[in-house]
Amino acid sequence: MLELVAMRGAPGSGKTFIAKRMAKEHSMVRVSRDDLRMALFNKEFGVNEKLISDVHVAAIRAALRHGYSVVVDNVHAKIGHFYALQGIAREFKASFRVVEMNTSLELCLERNLERERYVPEHVIISMWNRIQESPLHEEWT
Ligand SMILES: Nc1ncnc2c1ncn2[C@@H]1O[C@H](COP(=O)(O)OP(=O)(O)O)[C@@H](O)[C@H]1O
Ligand SMILES: [Mg+2]
Repeated sequence: MLELVAMRGAPGSGKTFIAKRMAKEHSMVRVSRDDLRMALFNKEFGVNEKLISDVHVAAIRAALRHGYSVVVDNVHAKIGHFYALQGIAREFKASFRVVEMNTSLELCLERNLERERYVPEHVIISMWNRIQESPLHEEWT
């Protein structure tokens, strides 16, 4: 069964860690905006985000077209992000679901200190709060 899975969680919550494991165990394709920024511009931020969006959507579509299920490991703080992904899933008759990380804010901040790609703490705090404030639709879980 073809599936499109969207991870959800603040930076440091472990989305990429889980998504890589899912991709490996279930032969899924992992698509990540963070990796696309690096691949296209060799920069972590301050790039043309509209270009990244186009490549991101094209990569998801191409993988589904080739018969691969996809896991997308962006933060996905806003509920609106999921509508677009749900639309793509429908195009390919793939099922859509969201895997939300239940990592505490403290653990996100702690892991952030240890990683190479440091994210400013206020960004993690605001994204973590925004996620708590906008619960998922039940049909996605
Ligand atoms: N379940 C876990 N157990 C141990 N370390 C983890 C786990 N999940 C994530 N980490 C570590 O925490 C850091 C952040 O994880 P990552 O998956 O990159 O988070 P995100 O993609 O949500 O920003 C990484 O160094 C990662 O190896
Ligand atoms: Mg990540």
